[in-house]
Amino acid sequence: MNNMLDDVEEILLMGPGPSCIHDSVYDALSRKTLGHMDPYFIHIMDEIKRLLQIVMQTQNKMTIPVSGTGSAGMETCFVNLVERNDPILILINGVFGQRMQEVATRLGADVDSLEFEWGTPVLPDKVAEKLRSKDYKIVAVVHAETSTGVKNPVEKIGEFIRETNALYLVDTVTSLGGIEVATDSWGIDALYSGTQKCLSCPPGLAPVSFSDRALDVILNRQNKIPNWYLDVSMLTKYWEGQTRVYHHTAPINMLYALYQSLLLIAEEGLTEVFQRHYENHKKLVEGLERIGIQMLVAPEYRLPMLNSVVIPEGADDAEVRGRLRQDYKIEIGPGLGPLAGKIWRIGLMGHTAREENVDRVLSALKEILNR
Ligand SMILES: Cc1ncc(COP(=O)(O)O)c(C=O)c1O
Repeated sequence: MNNMLDDVEEILLMGPGPSCIHDSVYDALSRKTLGHMDPYFIHIMDEIKRLLQIVMQTQNKMTIPVSGTGSAGMETCFVNLVERNDPILILINGVFGQRMQEVATRLGADVDSLEFEWGTPVLPDKVAEKLRSKDYKIVAVVHAETSTGVKNPVEKIGEFIRETNALYLVDTVTSLGGIEVATDSWGIDALYSGTQKCLSCPPGLAPVSFSDRALDVILNRQNKIPNWYLDVSMLTKYWEGQTRVYHHTAPINMLYALYQSLLLIAEEGLTEVFQRHYENHKKLVEGLERIGIQMLVAPEYRLPMLNSVVIPEGADDAEVRGRLRQDYKIEIGPGLGPLAGKIWRIGLMGHTAREENVDRVLSALKEILNR
């Protein structure tokens, strides 16, 4: 019988994720599967927690990968912290802020939002003003808004939240492993990420971390956490302590892959990894500007790992992306929502952020657009 996998091509992943994967991470996926209660596997779990703490810059004990993609991380943070009618503030300037709003609303929270134009950042002063008008239990924001390429000022917003009793919840799906995420010093109480962006792993796991203050809120809830699978108080018993308690069958080989990808980051060094993202972003922007392609976002708010470029006049969005995929074996992302048909999103995430990839996408665009 024909095996479809024989025809899977190697595509240079320069979209909004998944990103390119290092061969050693593919090797990790193919190691022999151990049992989820196996003592050696438990050592690996402990090491994953330690490496995640390094990448997230946190001492939080409750730092684990949840089984599921980034959205499962989002659900984990909200479902554990939110109870019905809790006052929540969501800061929105793109698709993923909107998704947070939807998740919190489904849990019956009393959700307020502050909205900012797509392609521009959340303004901390507006947040401070809103915080003076009402006491919130949680304030949530997306650090790297993948739908627009905007970096939100998470540290500055945190300074205002710190003056209140609110918990600070941050989406670091696209930022983690590509730019600094200083969980503890920025006063973040809950964060989640995904493996398929700057961690350069296949999609399938969602690293999360909760501060002791957040854990306290979780352990003193009035009502039971309404989701069994994502219940942090139960997951803790599998991920911590001398005796481990089975919760669900961990995705063993994906966890090997995450371990290997975190090891690569730790070996390269966080500062060096951030610098590599920044240098390649700079090279990409200079190259794009040389061929007359403009960036959507103002320089100070640009994400190095997600470059939103304005589709040049006369270029057909789908045709250009189609030719990149077909003739050059390169994937880039389309615009979403109000930016559909207006921008392309060029990812430089994790292992994708390399000079040869920047050169390849620039020369392909040059040829396709006749520049
Ligand atoms: C900022 C952000 N948050 C959340 C998600 C959701 O992650 P996933 O698609 O892995 O469920 C994404 C995915 O692109 C994202 O970019």
